[in-house]
Amino acid sequence: MRLKNKVAVIYGTGGGIGGAIARAFAREGAKLFLTGRHWAPVESVAKDIVAAGGSAEAAEVDALDERAVDRHLQSVIDKAGRVDISFNAVGIPNAKILGVPLVELDVEQFSLPITTYAMSYFLTARLAARRMVANGSGVIMTVTALHSRTGIPLVGGYGPAMAAKEALTRDLSVELAPLGIRVVGLRPQGMPETPTIKDAFAPRAKASGMTWEQWQELLASRTHPRRLMTLAEMADVAVFMASDKASGMTGTTVNLTMGSLDD
Ligand SMILES: NC(=O)c1ccc[n+]([C@@H]2O[C@H](COP(=O)([O-])OP(=O)(O)OC[C@H]3O[C@@H](n4cnc5c(N)ncnc54)[C@H](OP(=O)(O)O)[C@@H]3O)[C@@H](O)[C@H]2O)c1
Repeated sequence: MRLKNKVAVIYGTGGGIGGAIARAFAREGAKLFLTGRHWAPVESVAKDIVAAGGSAEAAEVDALDERAVDRHLQSVIDKAGRVDISFNAVGIPNAKILGVPLVELDVEQFSLPITTYAMSYFLTARLAARRMVANGSGVIMTVTALHSRTGIPLVGGYGPAMAAKEALTRDLSVELAPLGIRVVGLRPQGMPETPTIKDAFAPRAKASGMTWEQWQELLASRTHPRRLMTLAEMADVAVFMASDKASGMTGTTVNLTMGSLDD
């Protein structure tokens, strides 16, 4: 049990990545405080975890609402006494941000992913860090995508948003690591089990005439093992990064693109 009795808060638990991280952390013994913008999908993950013998509580928290995040973290401290891990897995629907060439993109559509992703990560990280400082330990985590480091057409403000999160991971770390808090990110390739990847494919399909199968094959052909990653593989790495065994890792985003992106 690599996360035994660690108190973990997850934002965006109702999503593909948030749910997989929650289940993996629970299997490793973490006490989970699960949050999301809508209650039902978060509660469903919490119920599964509790039914499997784990510890999880669900709450509706908008990760862009500073007061709501703060109130929730205070309730975690009141119940569990501490916060050891904060994981931001928040994501917004691709339909709102992808598919329009940059020269035709309006300012609101360009800035939506940048403000949403950067702001939500900043708020959840900052408020968790304030609690972690008291214990002199903690791990702040998030997820990005390879758009942070390579040009991809028709993704609007998503690439700058991912780059901003990776920069924030470094900057948080340089300020927080002296206080015992590590800050690490994961940068997975697309995981076809998640609805998000199918949503992201739709505008590309329209532009290129590719089928879903052809698109997956194209993405897979860019990886060294010629296949895409599973949610379970990503969650296994996240467990290690959240654990004390990764005490040497901070200020970095782990490249889980399976060779698609050189370091
Ligand atoms: N899936 C992949 O293969 C993959 C690969 C690389 C990177 N990523 C990135 O990883 C992140 C998560 O991906 P995903 O596939 O898990 O996305 P997802 O299935 O769309 O999940 C995102 C979750 O975030 C929640 N959310 C959105 N705004 C929120 C807010 N303000 N406060 C609280 N929760 C909020 C959503 O809740 P509601 O639905 O209730 O709004 C949803 O449950 C995204 O940034 C995505 O781009 C994904």
